[in-house]
This record gives sequence, structure tokens and C-alpha cells, in this order.
Amino acid sequence: MLLVTGGAGFIGSNFIGRALEALDDEIVNLDLLTYSGDLINLVDHSDDPRLHFSHGDICDASLVRQLLDTHRPRAVLHFAAESHVDRSIECPDRFLTTNVHGTFVLLQETLKYYRTLPGQEQDRFRFIHISTDEVYGSLGPDDPPFNEYSRYAPNSPYSASKAASDHLVRAYHRTYGLPTIVSNCSNNYGPRQFPEKLIPLTLMRARQGLQIPVYGSGKQERDWLFVEDHCDALLRMLDCGHPGEVYLVGGSGSISNLQIIERVCAAWDELAGGDRVRPSFSLVEHVDDRPGHDFRYDIDTSKAARELDWKAQVPLQEGIERTVRWYMENEQWIEHIAGGEYRSWVDRQYDMNG
Ligand code: NAD
Ligand code: TYD
Repeated sequence: MLLVTGGAGFIGSNFIGRALEALDDEIVNLDLLTYSGDLINLVDHSDDPRLHFSHGDICDASLVRQLLDTHRPRAVLHFAAESHVDRSIECPDRFLTTNVHGTFVLLQETLKYYRTLPGQEQDRFRFIHISTDEVYGSLGPDDPPFNEYSRYAPNSPYSASKAASDHLVRAYHRTYGLPTIVSNCSNNYGPRQFPEKLIPLTLMRARQGLQIPVYGSGKQERDWLFVEDHCDALLRMLDCGHPGEVYLVGGSGSISNLQIIERVCAAWDELAGGDRVRPSFSLVEHVDDRPGHDFRYDIDTSKAARELDWKAQVPLQEGIERTVRWYMENEQWIEHIAGGEYRSWVDRQYDMNG
């Protein structure tokens, strides 16, 4: 049995699909179903008797306790979070509550449960915390990539809240011996990502022929990790990761926002075919920069290669094409997700401003 938090979101739902395929475990998914979490993301597995759902908040200690006591998992995989930098700038409160206090509640209840396990079960128990490379702040153009020894220097309320949660995870390992593992991964992309993040936002805007907003110069750089590759790295951590360790998980090196948008738009135009009057990339419009915008992330994944025997398998071009095809073939998902909260966010961000 695995306890997954945030399994109705982007990475969590991809992980659940992967884990149901690769493992014999049952899974209980604790998710609050915030704006970015939706059970439509798990619709392919809704008939699977091994998948259980609990609608609730990771900050609710008695619910977390009850789930641990009832299901007695061999591992907790903690994805639940507020995950979008722009929203953290607009309204940081919820980031502190979920990402910091929620992680604390989960650690505290997991520790109590862990202490009730017999020795052998304690030996194999793992708490896997899904974090981000953004905790290390921003690289200059010529800096070497982040590694597991890079200094924490978060710059946004989002990354500060994730950094705080990483420190709590570390403390629960060092002080109480909870067998924790942290994945500090780069920018994930792929099917079912909420279209507030750059790649799915670009696809939604290209689909509608609307302006594609690029913050500032667009020369900022990110490393892109196909979500399936990240899920496989998490499975490796579960299988052979060392308690107390941190692993950087990433794709094939950083490229600029303008370059990634260009490649996504080209793949969209190519797959859409037919009667485009102008290339989607021409929809790009430079808008005000994000305050405190990190210039560059890039990560050294050699520790994951060495210790987990893991390496990203999906080249960027293939990942982009698979992602574009998924968004093209899943109109129903788009219609479902693109109402309500998504619409109001986009209106606030872009369309109301012309
Ligand atoms: P997401 O926003 O798509 O999903 C988050 C999920 O958590 C949703 O299902 C939401 O309903 C749930 N949730 C939020 N608050 C909750 C609460 N209080 N209790 C229970 N459930 C709650 O996020 P994602 O992109 O899938 O990210 C998953 C994890 O990976 C996060 O911890 C994020 O910080 C980390 N991460 C994401 C990326 C990325 O590129 N997406 C990169 C690095 C790290
Ligand atoms: P995002 O997907 O929000 O991820 P993160 O901020 O966690 O890296 O953004 C990726 C990059 O794209 C980041 O440099 C900000 C930029 N960006 C834009 O230029 N325009 C947009 O509309 C969005 C959402 C992001």
C-alpha cells in the first residue's frame, strides 16, 4: 500500500498511473481537489480496485492519522502542494499553509505511524517528498548546473515555501530517523498539466489563436523533464533510494523560454496541419516580467544516474510531440478544465489587460 498526496494533480496523477502499472501495491490518494486537482486526471483508473480516494486536506492531522492507521502504507509519496509561482506572488498565504504546515502535519503523523511499525517494516518504509530545483534560486548564464550541494536561495514565495518544507523533511530524518528521500526536480511537462504553466498555457493559447505572453525578454532558461521520466525516477527512489538522501532529477539541459515556446508552437502547427493563416509562434507577445524572476535553472543529474541507475529517457522533441498530441486528442479534458477557476485566472492575468 502507498499513500499518495496530491494524486489528482499533474505529476501525482501521472505517478499513480505509472505505479499501478509497475507495482502490485494498492494506492490511497489524499487530495483536496483544489483548482489544479481533478479526478478527471485519474479517469483511466477509476475502475481499478487498487486505487482508493480520500477527499481531504493534508493539514488535517486526524484525517492523515486515520488514513495511515487504516491503510498501513509502506511508503508516503508527497506531491500535494500549491505549485504555481505566479499565484504565490499574488497570494502567498495558501503556499505557507499547504506547503509548509501541510508538510509538517504529514511528517508528524507519518513519524507517529512509523514508530508503530515492526522493525522489518520500518527498514523498508520511505517518505518521498516531491520538491523542486527552484529552492536553489537562480543561476547566472555561465554558472555550473545545480547539484545536491548547491546553496538554498529561494526567490519566490513558492520556492521559499518548498525550501521550508525540504528543511522540515531533512530535520525529521536527522532528528527522528524518519527514512525520507527528496526529489528536487526541474520543470515537468506532459499530459494533464494545468494550463497555467508555460507549455500547456502556450498550447491552449495557440489552439485559440490568442496572444502567448512571454515574461520580459523570454531569454530565461529552464530544464524540461518529461513527467513520465520523473515518475520513473520516483519509482527508483522507492526501490533503491537511500534514506536521508536528496536527488536532483532533470531532463536534457536548459533552453530559453522563447526557444521552448517556438518548439511547442512548431509541433502544434505541424500536428494541427491544414489551414493555419500564420504560425502560432507569431502570437508571442512580450509582457511585463515576473517580479523576482529566476533567470536560469539547470541541474546536474549524475547522482541519480549513479545511485538510482536512472536517466531521462524521453528526448525533448519527443516529449513535446507527445504532449502536444495529448492536448490535441483530449478536447474533453480541456473543456472540463478550461472553465471556472482557469478562466478567471487567465482573464485576470492576460485577457482583461488586452
Ligand atoms: P499540481 O498543482 O498539478 O497538483 C497539486 C495537487 O495537490 C492537486 O491535485 C491539488 O488538489 C492537491 N492539493 C493542493 N493542496 C492540497 C492540500 N492542502 N491537501 C491535499 N491536497 C492538496 O502540481 P504538480 O505540478 O503536480 O506538482 C506536484 C509536486 O511537484 C508539488 O509538490 C510541486 O511543488 C512539485 N514540483 C512540480 C514541478 C512542475 O513542473 N510541475 C516542478 C518541480 C516540483
Ligand atoms: P512556469 O511554467 O510558471 O514554471 P516556473 O516558473 O516554475 O519555472 O514558467 C516557466 C518559465 O516561463 C518561467 O521563466 C516563466 C515563464 N513564463 C512566461 O514567460 N509566460 C507565461 O505566461 C508563464 C506562465 C511563464
